[in-house]
Amino acid sequence: MKEEKHVIHPLALRVLHWVNALAVIIMILSGWRIYDAAPIWNFEFPRGLTLGGWLAGALAWHFAAMWLLGANLVAYLLYGVLTGHFRRRLLPLSLAGAWRDIRDAVAGETAHAPGCYTAAQRIAYVFAILAIVVAILSGLALWKPVQLQELAAVMGGYEGARRVHFFAMTALVLFILLHVALAVSVKGVLRPMVTGRAEPE
Ligand code: HEM
Repeated sequence: MKEEKHVIHPLALRVLHWVNALAVIIMILSGWRIYDAAPIWNFEFPRGLTLGGWLAGALAWHFAAMWLLGANLVAYLLYGVLTGHFRRRLLPLSLAGAWRDIRDAVAGETAHAPGCYTAAQRIAYVFAILAIVVAILSGLALWKPVQLQELAAVMGGYEGARRVHFFAMTALVLFILLHVALAVSVKGVLRPMVTGRAEPE
């Protein structure tokens, strides 16, 4: 008899995850084109890696995807709190546990079961969620610097908010590089995030 596969990532979580991934990627690539129009530092992002073609096109992408990102984040936070998903899957957080996981992984002893996050994964996911929150708050301060001047002031004014926005983007890019590398290299992890189901051990 065919063994039953169990759902480890409910449909709502999968939709929220992939919409978030799409929105984050559009925000980053269009953001790079916007940065290139007035670089903060002495470098630019290669045009071929950016989205939007020119400044106005990139701004249109950025402003369109920001609604998707913001609405999806609110829905994810509500889902996570109201269903107990955060309590079950992301908490408690343990830096010592994460450090142990990293040492084990370096020694080639990763004990990862799909749908049950390790301490290192939990820290990384909460880090990514916080980076998105910081990116949105600093983005709001840049978008409405007059109406939201108190928010901009917390970040050191308009120029400070630009730097905070840039560092939040950098944190997300580093997270995504590691996250995608692990998702495609650790066996049995990626498919359940698409289908929801994992084969029983
Ligand atoms: C681009 C921005 C992305 C962000 C910010 C992000 C963030 C996250 C977060 C926060 C979780 C935990 C979700 C939860 O249970 O509440 C997660 C899980 C996961 N993500 Fe992503 N993700 C992104 C892109 C991707 C991409 C491109 C892939 C695939 C290549 C991917 C594959 C996965 C998988 C497989 C899991 C489940 C891991 C497991 O079961 O151990 N993610 N992601």
